[in-house]
Amino acid sequence: MTPNPRKILVTSALPYANGAIHIGHLVEYIQTDIWVRYQKLRGHECYYVCADDAHGTPIMLRAQQEQITPEQLIGRVYQEHTADFSGFAIQFDNYHSTHSPENQHFANLIYQRLNSKGYILRKQISQAYDPVKQMFLPDRFIRGECPRCGAADQYGDSCEVCGATYAPTDLKNPRSALSGATPEERESEHFFVNLSDFQDMLSTWANQGALQEEVINKLNEWFETGLQPWDVSRDAPYFGFEIPDQPNKYFYVWLDAPIGYMASFKNLCDKKGLDFDSFWGADSDAELYHFIGKDIIYFHALFWPAMLTGADFRKPTALCVHGFLTVNGQKMSKSRGTFIMARTYLEHLNPEYLRYYFAAKLNGKVEDIDLSLEDFQNRVNADLVGKVVNIASRCAGFITKRFNSQLAAQLPDPELYQQFLARADAIAEAYEVRDYARGVREIMALADRANQYIDEYKPWVLAKEEGKDAELQAVCTQGLNLFRVLLGYLAPIVPVMEEKVEQFFACPLTWAPEPLLAHNIEKFTPLMQRVERKDIDAMIDASKDSLAATMPAPEAASAPAVAIDPIADTIDYELFSKVDLRIAEIVNAEHVDKAKKLLRLTLNIGEDKPRTVFAGIKEAYQPEDLIGRLTVMVANLAPRQMPFGLSEGMVLAAGPGKKDLWILSPDTGAQAGMRVK
Ligand code: 2FM
Ligand code: ZN
Repeated sequence: MTPNPRKILVTSALPYANGAIHIGHLVEYIQTDIWVRYQKLRGHECYYVCADDAHGTPIMLRAQQEQITPEQLIGRVYQEHTADFSGFAIQFDNYHSTHSPENQHFANLIYQRLNSKGYILRKQISQAYDPVKQMFLPDRFIRGECPRCGAADQYGDSCEVCGATYAPTDLKNPRSALSGATPEERESEHFFVNLSDFQDMLSTWANQGALQEEVINKLNEWFETGLQPWDVSRDAPYFGFEIPDQPNKYFYVWLDAPIGYMASFKNLCDKKGLDFDSFWGADSDAELYHFIGKDIIYFHALFWPAMLTGADFRKPTALCVHGFLTVNGQKMSKSRGTFIMARTYLEHLNPEYLRYYFAAKLNGKVEDIDLSLEDFQNRVNADLVGKVVNIASRCAGFITKRFNSQLAAQLPDPELYQQFLARADAIAEAYEVRDYARGVREIMALADRANQYIDEYKPWVLAKEEGKDAELQAVCTQGLNLFRVLLGYLAPIVPVMEEKVEQFFACPLTWAPEPLLAHNIEKFTPLMQRVERKDIDAMIDASKDSLAATMPAPEAASAPAVAIDPIADTIDYELFSKVDLRIAEIVNAEHVDKAKKLLRLTLNIGEDKPRTVFAGIKEAYQPEDLIGRLTVMVANLAPRQMPFGLSEGMVLAAGPGKKDLWILSPDTGAQAGMRVK
């Protein structure tokens, strides 16, 4: 077997237990699963653990919203997540929850060790408090006007209109997104991990060469700025673990989330009799890899190694960081139907298409990857169906029908077979460094070579010629053996097909195998159907359908519930009634320096102060023709900072644009400030 088996523990980020798995998540689980399957295939002792990330305010609020307990919520989501993962053949050795006794044990232990060594600081901090809900508000649950541009309804930490970042206390007219109440400032004592104590250790660890270059650069930037103490406590009410001997204080969800990796592994050790310490002890010789997205580098590259070291555990060997997923070149979108849930995908398409497509795109870098649906269809059909499966379907039938299912006793072209084996190391190296795209290119080049071989010897012609039986059997034996080598290489990517192929050969697939000769095979059954456009379209349509029901909670909890019908892009009455349409008198209109399309309008809507609105109607109107006219404006649109000034609403106009654009002019009788109903 493997001469030097390695001991490897692998994790993927723990998904929050309040929302469904979507294809964006799947990039990481598929990437990790391929790597783990590869390591196992090569004979290493490798374990893949994960868990639901079950704590925190959004989960507590979501449960309240559904009028169930947080435990009921996380129990239900656990079932959904594990079903989705198994649908994509993600094969965890253990899938646990951070709301577990093992996790509480390790969270307490790590905290107590950090505390006893003086790494925990205590500080009074002042925070927004919702007097109605009687709880402190995380930044994202505070809304108000941006202190810089005045845009309404912005989050407590940043403005989506002008991009400003600020403290929640800087927001103008802040209110709680939960109750609408004006938050109060209240003091409370918080616990902090003093990260600067670990800065030298972290810097050495980060620069030892095991991390991706992009990640090292990011970390070095953070080191230069200096590490701030990390707030690891939250006040009740909170769904999480109470801090030992600190009533009403809880561990912040991000403290116990990565500890969930340990907890899940401990749970596995207890089931299987494995030695926990040999993987997590300070002098462990096992390798530890965390696969994560680029948005959570900070937690895994700073907090987590600091916590581990401070509590006498080992540090990760490396982080394997990937980028985000776009679909058709854009962010996943609910209205376009590209925010695709794992479940919706599974209802329409074969999971191995996506495993293969992601593999063909992933190159081990932190770059974003794009799922172009057209390319997805073409690529899977051309490569997996057209090249790989085709090799077997061109040869198998002859062996079954003409040779009583028996392969020939010798390969007619052993050299070609050796050429296929000779690529094993290059393909192995590509898997090892997670450059699956390179591995797939290598494998497809071999598939082309195998097809060329079959084209050259044309078994379908040999089959019709007299006295060519031996040659026919030999050529098909060669083709099927080449196919078998390829499937051995591809197995980590397409494990379901791997199983079917093992049944077909009545023999396990291995890495770079000896040829199968004078061996009986089973009947060949179709291994994979082509991707059909109609199935992709149906999935997109269904994604438009399923969103309202499956969107995760944080949004529901943080934003006022607004029902947008994703299919027809209609709005419900409640939303319509929120739009404040008013009759506006144009008291002034003027050109805007350097703006090609805009006029600056001054509008009287019966308020104390006139409104300024920049309208893209310059090609349609001379400013002087507008002065004195009435029009209709949206009066409660969030103000928008433009290069020329702040625009405080929008006037309504009709027409295709440019010169053909008409602002709406109400009948006489309307007066400035009237509401439009
Ligand atoms: O960002 C997230 O989705 C987190 N739930 C990931 C946690 S990873 C680990 F640290 F637990
Ligand atoms: Zn702003």
